[in-house]
Amino acid sequence: MIRPATPEDSAAVIDLVVAAEMFSEDDAWLVEGMLADYFDGNKDDGHVCVIDDEGGTLGVAYYQPKPAADRVWDLTMIAVQPARQGQGRGAAMLRRVEEDLRARGQWLLLVETSALPQYDRTRAFYVKRGYDEEARIRGYWAAGDDLVVFRKALNED
Ligand SMILES: CC(C)(COP(=O)(O)OP(=O)(O)OC[C@H]1O[C@@H](n2cnc3c(N)ncnc32)[C@H](O)[C@@H]1OP(=O)(O)O)[C@@H](O)C(=O)NCCC(=O)NCCS
Repeated sequence: MIRPATPEDSAAVIDLVVAAEMFSEDDAWLVEGMLADYFDGNKDDGHVCVIDDEGGTLGVAYYQPKPAADRVWDLTMIAVQPARQGQGRGAAMLRRVEEDLRARGQWLLLVETSALPQYDRTRAFYVKRGYDEEARIRGYWAAGDDLVVFRKALNED
């Protein structure tokens, strides 16, 4: 079941994103802060966090509007428990995100990832879901680690 996150999910979400290697243990505080801000007010500013919950926290997706753009959103975070990856859970969460935004007349969904080989499967995931690689910024995450931005139009312009 995919459902909105509650404050009680926070610890499990942090464990999940570290287990999925989306964040290192050292950077877990970033997610902790993001979730604290979410429940403290960002939720009211349009941010959305959903959980794939089936007898445990199996996945998470977080998306937020770009403040100065026209109906453009960022998929800030998506992760699935390592043992449950490759079973369609990420695709189901992404579908849920897109359907929500489409129903609200939103225009673009952007995703940032890395060009490093260890993210080959992550990039393939977005390509299979109809995302186009739109931009690369060299040396963005670190020297030799380029930013790759994917884009999907959710509605006709
Ligand atoms: C990327 C991620 C969210 C995809 O969710 P998922 O539930 O594993 O993916 P799905 O089962 O819906 O889709 C499977 C497709 O995604 C891709 N994929 C990406 N990572 C994968 C993984 N670890 N295992 C299996 N498939 C993966 C493959 O192209 C696969 O297609 P295939 O079965 O034809 O090879 C998930 O693998 C994950 O949490 N990865 C680690 C964290 C991460 O990279 N997050 C995104 C940061 S931008």
